[in-house]
Amino acid sequence: MADSSHGPASFMVQANALLRKNLTFQKRNLRTNIRLIAFPFFLCLLLVLIQHLVDNELDKPKNKCGCSCVDTRCETKVCGIEYSTLDQAFTCPVPHPVNWPPFLQIPAPEFRASRTDFTPFLDLPDDSCKMTGSCPVTIILTGGNQSLGQSLAGNLFMGAFSPNSSHIFSSLTSVLLGSYSEPKITNFLEPAFFSGLPVYIIQPQCAPNFSLSVPDPIASETRQQEVRCVQGLHLWRNSSSEVNDELYKGYQQGNSERKINEFVAAYDFLDTNEHNFNVSIWYNSTYKNDNGNPPNLVRVPRSVNMASNAYLQFFRGAGTKMLFEFVKEMPKPGIKLSLDFSSLLSALFFTWVILQLFPVILTSLVYEKERNLRIMMKMHGLGDDPYWMISYAYFLFISLTYMLVFVMFGSLIGIKFFTLNDYSIQFVFYFIYINLQISLAFLVATVFSKVKTASVIGYICVFGSGLLGRFLFHFFVEDASFPRGWIIVMELYPGFSLYRGLYEFGQYSFLGSYMGIDGMQWKDLSDSTNGMEEVLIIMFVEWMVVLPVAYYLDQVLALGSGVRKHPLFFMEKFWKKRSPSFRRPSLRRQGSRVFVQMEKADVSQEREKVEQLLLEPRVNHAIICDNIKKVYPGKDGNPEKFAVRGLSLSLPRGECFGILGPNGAGKTSFINMMIGLITPTSGTAFVQGLDIRTDMDKIYTSMGVCPQHDLLWETLTGREHLLFYGRLKNLKGAALTQAVEESLKSVNLFHGGVGDKQSGKYSGGMKRRLNVAISLIGDPKVVYMDEPSTGLDPASRNNLWNVVKRAKQDRAIILTTHSMEEAEVLCDRLGIFVDGNLQCIGNPKELKARYGGSYVFTMTTSSNQEDDVENLVRSLSPNANKIYHISGTQKFEIPKQEVKIADVFQAVENAKKMFTIHAWGLADTTLEDVFIKVAQGVQALNVLS
Ligand SMILES: *[C@@H]1O[C@H](CO)[C@@H](O)[C@H](O)[C@H]1NC(C)=O
Ligand SMILES: *[C@@H]1O[C@H](CO)[C@@H](O)[C@H](O)[C@H]1NC(C)=O
Ligand SMILES: *[C@@H]1O[C@H](CO)[C@@H](O)[C@H](O)[C@H]1NC(C)=O
Ligand SMILES: *[C@@H]1O[C@H](CO)[C@@H](O)[C@H](O)[C@H]1NC(C)=O
Ligand SMILES: *[C@@H]1O[C@H](CO)[C@@H](O)[C@H](O)[C@H]1NC(C)=O
Repeated sequence: MADSSHGPASFMVQANALLRKNLTFQKRNLRTNIRLIAFPFFLCLLLVLIQHLVDNELDKPKNKCGCSCVDTRCETKVCGIEYSTLDQAFTCPVPHPVNWPPFLQIPAPEFRASRTDFTPFLDLPDDSCKMTGSCPVTIILTGGNQSLGQSLAGNLFMGAFSPNSSHIFSSLTSVLLGSYSEPKITNFLEPAFFSGLPVYIIQPQCAPNFSLSVPDPIASETRQQEVRCVQGLHLWRNSSSEVNDELYKGYQQGNSERKINEFVAAYDFLDTNEHNFNVSIWYNSTYKNDNGNPPNLVRVPRSVNMASNAYLQFFRGAGTKMLFEFVKEMPKPGIKLSLDFSSLLSALFFTWVILQLFPVILTSLVYEKERNLRIMMKMHGLGDDPYWMISYAYFLFISLTYMLVFVMFGSLIGIKFFTLNDYSIQFVFYFIYINLQISLAFLVATVFSKVKTASVIGYICVFGSGLLGRFLFHFFVEDASFPRGWIIVMELYPGFSLYRGLYEFGQYSFLGSYMGIDGMQWKDLSDSTNGMEEVLIIMFVEWMVVLPVAYYLDQVLALGSGVRKHPLFFMEKFWKKRSPSFRRPSLRRQGSRVFVQMEKADVSQEREKVEQLLLEPRVNHAIICDNIKKVYPGKDGNPEKFAVRGLSLSLPRGECFGILGPNGAGKTSFINMMIGLITPTSGTAFVQGLDIRTDMDKIYTSMGVCPQHDLLWETLTGREHLLFYGRLKNLKGAALTQAVEESLKSVNLFHGGVGDKQSGKYSGGMKRRLNVAISLIGDPKVVYMDEPSTGLDPASRNNLWNVVKRAKQDRAIILTTHSMEEAEVLCDRLGIFVDGNLQCIGNPKELKARYGGSYVFTMTTSSNQEDDVENLVRSLSPNANKIYHISGTQKFEIPKQEVKIADVFQAVENAKKMFTIHAWGLADTTLEDVFIKVAQGVQALNVLS
């Protein structure tokens, strides 16, 4: 074994040990790793594929500006709007847009204002015109000077139409044109001519309809356009509030389609006079284009022009005109259709990619809890704080690497989502989220105890969050009328804040690639619609809150670390300072100790020895238990349970002490106190002179534990286990390697490379031996073994016993067992533990002598001769005691001093002549008999008391 002078492992040493173990563990989890890495790659490639298909589709001729061959062999092509279909035209350059005549927006025939029962004015046309579609279009007016207003109104509708076929459009400027087609977002094509609806000329008195040839810039030919005449009506109202009322009522009352009363416009001439032209105009601003953009006002200027023209004509004479000649769209370059599909889908896909780390971290944490490995590590000296810090740092490292690979891969294959957005924003976002995710995993891990449930729920969360994000949250974000406050509330759920962040990246990169600019930059965080800033703040705050809460719950609930701390454990230091006597062991005992039960001489002798030892320096003895007690408080009205009632025991180095006892006797409670899993109710124990109540952390470094159940990582090999625990015990370099080799050899796991096989493939016996090896690595001075040989075949058991025998040379071993044979072989001293008390203590031989003192005589006959057998035994020894009796087989205890073995044989020989004896036997007392006797003795006492 290695040099025993090593001290407790420093933080760095523990960190190193845990890190190496974690890396090995991660390496072994092949399936998880492959899935972890393949998934993002798969999604990225899928995105690229979809993008490729979309690009291909957009590249087809039907989505590009049309072209035509100039020569027969099609060597040169000309492209342009004139060779395109209406769909293609959208992408063509338009260097010379057409001049269109200006239009006035007029209501459709069935909505034009007419007299109805809710209009107070009788000057409107009769209701019946709506049926025939012959209603006039109406303008209502008001102003400060009625006579002036009426005169101006007369000039609003311009004169008669005289078409000039060579300059058809310019001749149209002298008349008032109206259309009820919907204006579009651009005006390259005047919808009045291309919607199939008639064009109207508004005149005070109507001429017959006629039709007109209109040039079509797309088909580069002219087409016939129907031009109708509609009568223009102007009506005076006394005040602007009347006008308002009428416009509003006409619209509001029209819940049945026929009754809607729409007006072309309304004018208020205010204080207009000869020197002052002052007018306000009502127009319908409801016309919106499909994207919900603001109303297109291209048809409003005409109504302003009408009023100005009327004013000029009135004051300057009919010859003065203010012509509105044409409207013309700005020239535009050709565009290439592009759709960055990845930016649209990425929010969903990347939410999955990033979220899938969550179940990985969660299951890895729960795995160590489920298999009690955290307790095991703790018992071998790994503190809670290093465990937390190292695990956290480790998961952070894994997550960061994962994200780095992901972003780099995505950038390399050219996904715009990554390349367009500022990398520093992406880094900050991912970094904060990853930290939040790890903290959450720690938090959630405190409530799970099964890996299966944790992983199922984890993956449900991953896919559920993605889908809910895409198909629920997404719509709320895009719905501008949804209250922002509720969106922030929803973003408190980390899945949604992740989704929102990715969504914003996606939006910016989509826009960027569409308009050929960059994606999100730092300055864009202040955009009013950009949710990135709030998401970053929410995630950061959550991270800061979740992490301490997770740590706190982990300590208090202690599903994993074993020791459940008081909910106010962090106040402990404070208490300690305030009352120094709080934890000081009280060495002097008061003489008045009352025992309910009389103690056996050997037990009280041990107690006196302990009291003697406590006065001396305690370092010499490996273990001294000083009247240690454990009482579980009564629950639900049950009385308190005394698990251990004042146990005193001393153990020098080199001794193996065996604890025997029936189930529920308090053995495990005792061991748990000694290894620091539970705190004693009163009394204490000193291990190597260190108090278990205050110096457990130091004790751990010189302690080894072999728990009742095998606590192993299935994917780690035996050697890796030993290396890990060896490092925790501060073994380094050559000493470590040597210790591990020796340890493997000593438990027979060295040959045939068994030590390099994953422990999940070990047989039960091999696992047990490995656990024993773990408890012995690093030369601990005190070792606790809880039923080390349960479930082993005889060969393995002998093997194990040899290991323990060799190991006990230089250390104190406390061992619990149900196997008397084991106790006899391994233990130097035994204690029989019943009902929370040591009933007797001594080496196996002494105990047998003390409690034995009799032979056990067994005889089997046919059942009608039982009385003969009893008589036979009584004749041998009148004090013989029948201890067992069933269908012809009887067992008697015969005091040793009353019989000689030879007499017994003689008597049996004689008896054989009188009746048939099927079988008989005579045995010395075994430890088992002692055990049963002691246990029964206590029970009998309990019944009496
Ligand atoms: C109304 O306007 C006409 C024409 O300008 C003018 O002659 C008349 O005096 C005005 N009436 C009032 C009350 O100002
Ligand atoms: C048509 O308009 C042009 C230019 O304004 C003019 O020269 C021509 O005389 C007009 N023709 C008719 C028939 O008015
Ligand atoms: C409008 O004013 C004129 C003259 O002042 C008056 O005769 C008429 O009744 C008024 N109309 C309404 C609806 O008040
Ligand atoms: C304004 O225009 C819209 C769209 O044509 C129409 O539905 C609505 O009734 C109009 N409103 C009024 C007050 O005329
Ligand atoms: C136009 O009319 C409004 C409302 O009567 C008035 O407040 C404003 O001063 C007038 N403007 C001019 C230039 O007279």
